[in-house]
Amino acid sequence: MGNGEGPRIVPFEERFRGEVIALWEKCGLTRPWNDPDKDIDRKLTDRNGAFPVLLLNGKVIGSVMVSYDGHRGSIYYLSIDPAHQTGGLGQMLMAHCEDFLLGLGCPKVNLFVRRGNEGVKRFYEQLGYAEEAAVPLGKRLIPDN
Ligand SMILES: CC(C)(COP(=O)(O)OP(=O)(O)OC[C@H]1O[C@@H](n2cnc3c(N)ncnc32)[C@H](O)[C@@H]1OP(=O)(O)O)[C@@H](O)C(=O)NCCC(=O)NCCS
Repeated sequence: MGNGEGPRIVPFEERFRGEVIALWEKCGLTRPWNDPDKDIDRKLTDRNGAFPVLLLNGKVIGSVMVSYDGHRGSIYYLSIDPAHQTGGLGQMLMAHCEDFLLGLGCPKVNLFVRRGNEGVKRFYEQLGYAEEAAVPLGKRLIPDN
């Protein structure tokens, strides 16, 4: 890919692993209880989902995990490199995920915004997402550390 091309979305490949993890770290999405390498390994076993990566001039500047469980779509780890934020790229990756889910016949998307990251809610609200009257419950089945 030559210089000056616009951003493009491609499927994750092993050669992007280090850059994707560095991107998540830069975006503040990593947590001590989630091993990012293991999260990538697990995602690669997901046969109903996709793991799009956004490239600009061969460099990873965005990524997202999307999947459909037969009832709802889910979106995780949406990230745009801070140096490239507020230029419409997050919206572009979300549109890509929604197209992917619609193609599978998925009727609705659920996603989580962590407490402390509520500022990002406005980004999702602009895209038509709304807070719901449901309390997320979780249970760890496999500790990462
Ligand atoms: C959330 C994120 C992916 C948005 O990416 P982005 O490329 O900056 O977003 P866009 O430029 O496509 O934004 C689309 C719209 O949302 C607005 N927006 C983006 N981030 C926002 C924020 N944090 N707060 C309020 N509005 C925001 C933009 O201004 C834009 O509005 P406009 O169309 O009126 O100009 C990016 O900020 C990011 O990677 N954040 C850190 C990781 C994160 O929190 N991910 C979400 C986990 S739930």
